[in-house]
Amino acid sequence: MQDWDLLLTDARLATMRGDGNGTIDHGAIAIALGRIVWAGPIGELPRAQVRRTISLDGQWVTPGLIDCHTHLVYAGNRAGEFAKRMAGASYMEIAAAGGGIKSSVAATRAASEQELFVGAIARLDALLAEGVTTIEIKSGYGLDRATEMRMLSVARRLGGHRPASIVTTYLGGHCLPADFANNRAAYVDLVCEMMADVAAADLADAADVCYDPIGFDRVECERMLGAARQNGLRVKLHTGQMAEQGGGGLAASVQALSADHIEYLSEADAAAMAKAGTVAVLLPGAFYYLRETKKPPVDLLRRHGVPIAVSTDHNPGSSPLLSIILAMNMASVFFGLTSAETLAGVTRNAAQALGLLHDRGTIEMGKRADLAVWAIGDPGELASSIGPRRPAMVIQNGRPV
Ligand code: NIG
Ligand code: FE
Repeated sequence: MQDWDLLLTDARLATMRGDGNGTIDHGAIAIALGRIVWAGPIGELPRAQVRRTISLDGQWVTPGLIDCHTHLVYAGNRAGEFAKRMAGASYMEIAAAGGGIKSSVAATRAASEQELFVGAIARLDALLAEGVTTIEIKSGYGLDRATEMRMLSVARRLGGHRPASIVTTYLGGHCLPADFANNRAAYVDLVCEMMADVAAADLADAADVCYDPIGFDRVECERMLGAARQNGLRVKLHTGQMAEQGGGGLAASVQALSADHIEYLSEADAAAMAKAGTVAVLLPGAFYYLRETKKPPVDLLRRHGVPIAVSTDHNPGSSPLLSIILAMNMASVFFGLTSAETLAGVTRNAAQALGLLHDRGTIEMGKRADLAVWAIGDPGELASSIGPRRPAMVIQNGRPV
């Protein structure tokens, strides 16, 4: 007879397998050693020895939510820049005048590891409170060797202090730091060199570059992405936020896990992304906060079968958003995603954007038992919410937290 650590019973399951929510109305989930060992209709439950049973009284269970694109570790704030933008300055003008990302770089370089840790853990707690169980964290506010390494090790350490699975991404290719203003090639060389170092130190699970007018050109991005891949790192891109430069196509050509922002995307590049399995990560917080008007081509993505993920893009400048639930709502209101698409966007497709779909993102046998329990009548309530929406229970790696 099977031996289970935990049985969740009398639940409604949004398994996120197949189309829609993959609903099982009278469902149960069995967990052993941190894994889902059985999930299905209660009537088909096999006999087993169970250590603990929790009856959920018809509450909904979803996969634990996944925020697949954040810049959670940084110091300083950009309130002054916000005021300037509200007075009419554009994000690009502020960046060109040395503000924007560069101001966060200055503050982050000046911060100690402990200061970065304390700031990041408070932000992490806000995301975890909403049922997030996996979170990706990028570097990219150091842009020098020591600070980038410090950011990544802070991100790694967070997972030891909270019940959260942290995935780290080296974003040395975020933008050109002021100290290399006259020597772009030398900075790109440094990023390429650091790909080997962050991989060898196991500080990064993936690498990201910004292929947009505030970042790097195509040739520079190709060099950095090539170096990442040579060192065994999976890659992703910030692209198509400010201009159409063929970023989706570049992402597909390097088998990127994801192309993020992607408000500008051609039909040919959408087709290439679908073929390469590259996920389109939509970031409605940045769209809202920068008062953008160019929306991602959701119909095109649907037509070509490009998986769509949704994330907060939490960062101090363009998306200071610490609510994945609000990101879901914004993805519906601004971009027209259905509620099932937004839920897939923060579960199954977010897992794929991290290269982790084999391990999490749906409720099915063999996957990591990361789950969120919700006292709601319909999973559509998540995307329709504005304001606090807390899960009734979160299970992380098989354990209620
Ligand atoms: O994802 N290339 C854009 N990078 C960030 C913005 C970072 C910032 O303004 O600090 C983004 O939106
Ligand atoms: Fe970002």
